[in-house]
Amino acid sequence: MEETSSYTLARSSAPLGEPVDASFVPWREAYGPKEDALRAALWAAKAELDSMDEGTYYRTRDSLFPLDASGPQGSNDFSNRAGHKLSQCMDHGNLWGYLKTLNSKNLFFVDVCGGPGAFTQALLTMAKRHGMKCRGAGMTLFDAHTRAPHGWYPELLRSKRFEATFGLDGTGDIFRTSNIHALASIVARAPVSLVVADGGFDVPFGVVNFQEVLSSRIVFSQWLAAVMVLKPKGCFVLKLFDVFSPFSQSLLYLSLHCFDTVRIVKPKHSRVVNSERYLVASGFIPLSPRWEEHLLNLHAKGFANDTVPLSLLPHSAVDATFTSSLRESVEAIARAQIGAIRKIVERAKTQPPPRFPARHVTAAMGAKPPVETPGDDEQQQSEDELP
Ligand SMILES: C[S@@+](CC[C@H](N)C(=O)[O-])C[C@H]1O[C@@H](n2cnc3c(N)ncnc32)[C@H](O)[C@@H]1O
Repeated sequence: MEETSSYTLARSSAPLGEPVDASFVPWREAYGPKEDALRAALWAAKAELDSMDEGTYYRTRDSLFPLDASGPQGSNDFSNRAGHKLSQCMDHGNLWGYLKTLNSKNLFFVDVCGGPGAFTQALLTMAKRHGMKCRGAGMTLFDAHTRAPHGWYPELLRSKRFEATFGLDGTGDIFRTSNIHALASIVARAPVSLVVADGGFDVPFGVVNFQEVLSSRIVFSQWLAAVMVLKPKGCFVLKLFDVFSPFSQSLLYLSLHCFDTVRIVKPKHSRVVNSERYLVASGFIPLSPRWEEHLLNLHAKGFANDTVPLSLLPHSAVDATFTSSLRESVEAIARAQIGAIRKIVERAKTQPPPRFPARHVTAAMGAKPPVETPGDDEQQQSEDELP
């Protein structure tokens, strides 16, 4: 995919209805009984990479898809891929224009699961370019990285324009409902008009096809944090992986009831071979108290014993207008992914990989990568390196 692609989701005018309790299933069964030919084709394409050594894979991939590679890529705007991706999401959702209609001079954002902080850095830079004063707050795991010893870059922790919180228990763990409440109370008086959420973690190679369902909990937690902190009409950017599972699809359907406009965006700086894409939404409409309580209860219950909720809604609640509009994005992104993987496989068979260093091997094999400064092009090299 050479250019950023963007797909607007649609639904019928049917109301959301009342919440019902979700049933939990082991994560390997989270796709439900219905086999999806497109998902099977994608998984089969990925399986072709199993026999390729990682060095060949990364070198061939980076030579075929240089735009995907880390680094400034011909632009002086941002020094890493994370900033480019967020910028492309914001542009394709027309979020800057929209945010200016809410408040032309000021922006207050919340960055969830945002450590070490390249999204926050990019927002502070972009807002300035748009003539807006910008401040924000964020919560991420209090994680010891080499250059972000307390989760965030030290310069962000010192900045007057950014407030980091690690929740009620000091871990910053978004899986703890009390931490989401703590974040919400810290920003309760702030005019939060944008939430960005880029959370994820390394998924071992052996279960990489299940990245989507293994990420269900973090995606849901970030989504819930966003609807707890956003003020009406606010905007949201959330990282997703694939969207084949009934759970992901129900979360998107719920999103269509919470935002005026919901798009799926695959930024051109997001690797074409991977399953990453972003929900980009504007015009937040707060959840009803009943739905909010229901989802908070689900979150507090946790996803125990390696299970995930099959769906947040009964199958009958999701209408055909939505399903066909979502399918368009799912098909386009998966087909581009399959095509890109095949190109890598073919190229690796016919040409030796170029000799520049494979920068991402260690990270992609599951080792915790060192977190770099915002100026370093090795930023953002964990879960989104996977094919
Ligand atoms: C891809 S990185 C985010 C990169 C960030 N947007 C940036 O541009 O610097 C994913 C982040 O999710 C965070 N994360 C993973 N699990 C989390 C959890 N349970 N609670 C809070 N943060 C979490 C990780 O600590 C990591 O900082």
